[in-house]
Amino acid sequence: MVIEKSFYGFTKDGTPIDQYTLVNANGAMVKIINYGGIVTELWVPDKNGLLRDVVLGFDTLAEFEGPNDPYFGCIVGRYANRIAQGRFTIDGVTYQLACNDAGGARPNMLHGGVKGFQDVVWKAIPMKTPEGPALRLKYLSHDGEEGFPGNLDVTVTYTLTNDNALKIEYVATTDKPTVVNLTNHAYFNLEGEGSGDILNHELMIVADNYTPVDNNLIPTGEIAPVAGTPLDFREPRKIGERIQAFAEPPFKGYDHNFVLNNQTGELALAARVKAPESGIVMEVYTTQPGVQLYTGNWLDLKGKGGKYYGQYAGFCLETQHYPDSPNHPNFPSTLLSPGEVYRQVTIYKFLTE
Ligand code: BGC
Repeated sequence: MVIEKSFYGFTKDGTPIDQYTLVNANGAMVKIINYGGIVTELWVPDKNGLLRDVVLGFDTLAEFEGPNDPYFGCIVGRYANRIAQGRFTIDGVTYQLACNDAGGARPNMLHGGVKGFQDVVWKAIPMKTPEGPALRLKYLSHDGEEGFPGNLDVTVTYTLTNDNALKIEYVATTDKPTVVNLTNHAYFNLEGEGSGDILNHELMIVADNYTPVDNNLIPTGEIAPVAGTPLDFREPRKIGERIQAFAEPPFKGYDHNFVLNNQTGELALAARVKAPESGIVMEVYTTQPGVQLYTGNWLDLKGKGGKYYGQYAGFCLETQHYPDSPNHPNFPSTLLSPGEVYRQVTIYKFLTE
């Protein structure tokens, strides 16, 4: 196994950022920068044994830091997804966050606020583990940051295991009651990034239910069955087969939280995706109770190597707690109190068929 560190670039305020290259025993490779914990490249073998980079991204730090970055490959926090009105209450105290969703056009906080975890500098600790090369990232989110209470000590560990899985472990502790929902926002294209849209990918999601939302993409609170809807992915279906049902805003494609059948907090299969041409299959395992399927509905930009990424150029499977959980007592709780340890694991495992 190999772990290499190289200088990646300076942030706007002059902080040097490094890129870590992890290569496992099979030659699969991931590159991660300590800005936002962004997975910049992920090379896995296709059915002919040739490596393909299956994540969308940019070539430069300036682009990841810039206003056009749609959360490519980053760690999302302190609260992934939306909080209605950017507001929640703990022990009778109401906290107001920034409403940054859709550039302020929707009255929600999205993905942690204006400067969420995707835009902070993490301390990086490379590690050689028996499972494969790993990178541990640490960040202390201070009390009041983006409006959230409590100093939140966050550790995210990426391991590129020798069975070609990218394992992501999230651990956090706080010194005041707060809410936490961490995920990774990688956009996958299992034919290779920049190779067109993902509408022919076959997707299976182990979810009988989903959380319906209103026009601001905020859950109504209902847990509804997927049966008889275009959200029924219990058997593998092409992503593009029924996507037109959501062609209109606010969706423009899939942008839905699925209620995973596994609600035990133990690791279980959540989803499986297959690309027909490359033969690359990705299985997603998680301890989380939900997953957001987002199909890059608003993409319209130039990514790595100047390649054009248009609508549906990639899909995200953001394992998570449900959107707006702090305002829905019937959803699994996202509250973290002092003395407790937040711990979640998600594994993106790659194979071929
Ligand atoms: C959300 C989308 C949002 C996108 C931004 C996704 O996680 O579900 O609504 O547009 O992130 O990149």
